[in-house]
Amino acid sequence: MSRPSLAKIAPYVPGTSIEEVRRKLGLERIVKLASNENPLGSSPKAMAALGSIDRLHLYFDDAHTELRERLAAPYGLKAENVVLGHGSNELVNIAAEMLLEAGDEAVMAAPSFSLYRLVTALQGATPVEVPLRAYAHDPDAMLAAVGPRTKMVFVCDPNNPTGTALSADAWERFLERLPASVTLVIDQAYREYMDAGGVDAVPVVSRRPNTLVLRTMSKIYGLASLRFGYGFADAETIGWLDRVRLPFNVSRPAALGAAGALEDAAFVARSVEANGRGKAYLSAEYARLGLRMIPTQANFYAVEVPCPATRAYDDLLARGIIVRSGDALHLPGHLRITIGTEDENRMLIGAIEELLPQWRAA
Ligand SMILES: Cc1ncc(COP(=O)(O)O)c(C=O)c1O
Repeated sequence: MSRPSLAKIAPYVPGTSIEEVRRKLGLERIVKLASNENPLGSSPKAMAALGSIDRLHLYFDDAHTELRERLAAPYGLKAENVVLGHGSNELVNIAAEMLLEAGDEAVMAAPSFSLYRLVTALQGATPVEVPLRAYAHDPDAMLAAVGPRTKMVFVCDPNNPTGTALSADAWERFLERLPASVTLVIDQAYREYMDAGGVDAVPVVSRRPNTLVLRTMSKIYGLASLRFGYGFADAETIGWLDRVRLPFNVSRPAALGAAGALEDAAFVARSVEANGRGKAYLSAEYARLGLRMIPTQANFYAVEVPCPATRAYDDLLARGIIVRSGDALHLPGHLRITIGTEDENRMLIGAIEELLPQWRAA
């Protein structure tokens, strides 16, 4: 038995994992370019902090004041402006739980990060999906979709699965016109990968109450398994989020690893640099192969393929390369592929080059 409204939500299907592919296909080398993790591994400073963990028998200090102060300080904010989550996924869900009720609407782009639609539906509210324009958020159309029932707007910047980001001008125009009563959730899971034109959205929380900016340690810090996300907002919004947040949602290992990672500017710089080199290599190779890809501000590319995306996904999987099919992301005809190490990128391009004639003939 379940709530009748749950029947409207698609069954949960876990993403393809290295372990599962190894079990099913028995391949020796499996490369996962499906979830936009950091191919360089984890922040060494986070790993060092994790190595000295003790006192797991005790609940940790759930206020995490020092860590929240540390996150807030670069922006001139305070601990009261920071909420911590079991990954930023949890914070997306908490935001919906805090605000949305049956009959409410949440505006979001399509395709964008699929969780926004899910958490909205879980609250019995209605996701209002606004198509991307030229693969990017269409701020005017999103504003036009805001109505009397709109409680929340999600903006994913850079957007997953397209990698596109809003310009500073576009942000300004959007913020000027978005009604103050609407809660704005800006998901910047890939912020650190943006180029110079990308907007750091955290300062928005100082000028616009009702704004929640989300970040994660799962991507550039290489800590996806640790589950640590964080968000910035005005103190009142953080207070509401804290009422919904379950106690001890952030484990002691997650908090200590995150504190270590925050001091690891060198790892972040190395990761940005490696991503830049990967972008240069892959964009040249995709062009050479005659494949169109969407220019990215993140650590993945959406690449157009000349056959159904799931066919291309299956063929790459059979060669031990796990990517994401656009069919699963509302981006048909595309694969979303994480930028890997040099070696992984070469393996990927080699496989695509071999498969392309079959895909073109399909
Ligand atoms: C846009 C976006 N937001 C949030 C997340 C989730 O991150 P976390 O691991 O912090 O829950 C992802 C992960 O893929 C993402 O792409």
